[in-house]
Amino acid sequence: MKKIIYPLFIIIIVFSCQSPNSQITEKEKFINSLLSKMTLEEKAGQMNQYNGFWDATGPMPEGDYQKKRYNELKNGQVGSMLNVIGVEEIRALQKIAVEETRLGIPLIFGHDVIHGYKTIFPIPLAESSSWDLDLMEQSARVAGSEASADGLNWTFAPMVDISRDARWGRVMEGAGEDPYLGSLAAKARVKGFQGDDLNDISTIVACAKHFAGYGFSEAGRDYNTTDFNHYTLHNTIMPPFKAAVDAGVRTFMNSFNTLDEIPATGHKYIQRDVLKGDWKFDGFIVSDWGSIDQMIPHGFARDGNHAAELAVNAGSDMDMESSLYVSQLAGLVKSGKVDEEKINDAVRRILRVKYELGLFDDPYKYCNQERSDLELGSNDNMNVALDAAKKSIVLLKNNNQLLPLPKSGEKIAIIGPLANDKNSPLGNWRSQAVHNSASSVLEGMSKYNGNRTVYEKGVDLYYGKTNFHNRVKINYDDRSDFGKAKLAAATSDIVIMVLGEEGHQSGEGRSRTNIGLPGLQLELLKEINKVNNNIVLVVMSGRPLDLTWEDENIPAIVQAWHLGSKSGDAIAQVLYGDYNPSGKLTMSFPRNVGQVPIYYNFKNTGRPSTSIEQVTNSGYADVENSPLYPFGFGLSYTNFSYSNFSIDSDKLGFDSKINVSIEIENTGFYKGKEVVQLYIRDIVGSIARPMKELKGFETVELAPGESQKISFQIDSSLLEFYSYNNKWEAEVGKFHVFIGGDSNVSEYKEFYLTD
Ligand code: NOJ
Repeated sequence: MKKIIYPLFIIIIVFSCQSPNSQITEKEKFINSLLSKMTLEEKAGQMNQYNGFWDATGPMPEGDYQKKRYNELKNGQVGSMLNVIGVEEIRALQKIAVEETRLGIPLIFGHDVIHGYKTIFPIPLAESSSWDLDLMEQSARVAGSEASADGLNWTFAPMVDISRDARWGRVMEGAGEDPYLGSLAAKARVKGFQGDDLNDISTIVACAKHFAGYGFSEAGRDYNTTDFNHYTLHNTIMPPFKAAVDAGVRTFMNSFNTLDEIPATGHKYIQRDVLKGDWKFDGFIVSDWGSIDQMIPHGFARDGNHAAELAVNAGSDMDMESSLYVSQLAGLVKSGKVDEEKINDAVRRILRVKYELGLFDDPYKYCNQERSDLELGSNDNMNVALDAAKKSIVLLKNNNQLLPLPKSGEKIAIIGPLANDKNSPLGNWRSQAVHNSASSVLEGMSKYNGNRTVYEKGVDLYYGKTNFHNRVKINYDDRSDFGKAKLAAATSDIVIMVLGEEGHQSGEGRSRTNIGLPGLQLELLKEINKVNNNIVLVVMSGRPLDLTWEDENIPAIVQAWHLGSKSGDAIAQVLYGDYNPSGKLTMSFPRNVGQVPIYYNFKNTGRPSTSIEQVTNSGYADVENSPLYPFGFGLSYTNFSYSNFSIDSDKLGFDSKINVSIEIENTGFYKGKEVVQLYIRDIVGSIARPMKELKGFETVELAPGESQKISFQIDSSLLEFYSYNNKWEAEVGKFHVFIGGDSNVSEYKEFYLTD
């Protein structure tokens, strides 16, 4: 065999071309050189993002507004567009940017690919209930790949807002109330969308949003102001954003709310000092839709000119739909109100991300119709959606082992408006999903035909059509179908009731003050319960609902969220026991709406309450403080028992580790999965510390009779928090550690962190 000898200098060249430093240099050189050619107006143009404003593959735009935007696009005054859908449209607009503008800088195309593009996955809150990080990464990967196959290269996801208030409709978009799990979910989703290489055609840019504090909207009212302290910002709200940065997220979106009385869009501390300063984030920040302009009604900016000045000085790099950067920035620089270096910095960030996507090499790389036709909604993708849907379901109650259903013999009545609904399970952010394309519970259950099943709607949940822009019109008066449903229930052995929220009742702008079953559904449930109590209640919702009456009266309850394209199949597989439910809640379910905001990692207060009889303690006169179903809770068809909880030392140094372990045994009759959770309480701190904080978890799968030892390692980094000294540090002192199947676990071991 001939031996090839490479001259040393070739090897050096090859290696030096591949070293990350030289890549960075090449990239930055390219960006600087391009920047040096740009006029101030073109720079402001890169910072301008427009919603798709006309059918680019049809006739030229008409109307002054559209023509103005079209001319700006041709003049190089648009850097990005959102909500332009499909290969043809995207190609047509990219062509204008690349071929008709002076510098030919390609556009970056963004869209809300939140839980799927054409194949729809469970809403993120549901998916977080799987506690399965690989699954979260995989579903984001599929969603990103489908979007990229259809021409897009940027998603406005993941939403990593911590949320404690079920009145807020957007809880559906996040991973729930916990910063530790929220951080891991943020990382998984960023990795899923972006992969290891943004230049790859199947990956897209992710966007961590909404920076920051949006999940704390007062009274759960969307877009409302917030009121939380500096430590809550750092200890609870910021960690998932930091995790997203650590995972390499390339864009951020700021939020609509004020924090510290300053709109996030104009907030220098969070954007410049923390994100771009302390965290060294070198991607770019896009405003939320119109949020620059909205600083005027906030009472923070006098007019559009002032708003643009405040936003850019505070570090907002791209203007989504306020049209203020494109109209005001050049003037602001010329008048000396904005330093051109700030504009240069913003443009550099935007060009950097475009460069990383490879758009300067091939601006049409995502525009491949053949790929789109092949990939969107493919069987492989739908199988991932089915897997995700099954793993997201949480079994809340199962008295008398009513579930799983027997596969033959019994007569089953399926009742409820959502049982036959192929649209609601798609949730609110359904992107390119075909209307009515989810599998319904009826369809899913019909695949198990060993039973005699009948279906009765029982009641209409809503009137007319529903969509993203309109309120769902709920039925409050038509009970005409109650009778038929009662008859079906009375003549059946088991009743499956599928109730909950229509898909557009949660999501953006969908705040509710009453979080019970909407409309007449609870009334129907009570009526059915009178004639047959063998009820399995399947709850579809985008948020924790108040299920107190249901919990007291209904023997089996399954939380089935909005599970996406394969919803009905997944629910049926769980009901019939082909999948043993393994989900655990990531948001506490309140006893009633008066308890919200409610979350497991609360602080003790000086007068903690242990019963409602205590008067001058921190409790309510009518319900106890605890939630109906706590964070981390979820049942299985089998049972798990925990024993032999032990700790190998009660002293931890800053450079040492200790181990805690526990044995878990499957004591039931089905193979099942359990998420074993580790919580720590820091007993005394320089600021008051939460009663418990999730610090680790592991999922185990056990056959009946099987047991396994689970160990967790604790070191001082696990004990760090943003302290009174305004820095992340662990403080010496006493800690309690808990291991169990939900956040209610009470048995603990004690240890001390010592110098
Ligand atoms: C407003 C929403 O708050 C944000 O999350 C979304 O990405 C933008 N609209 C664009 O649709």
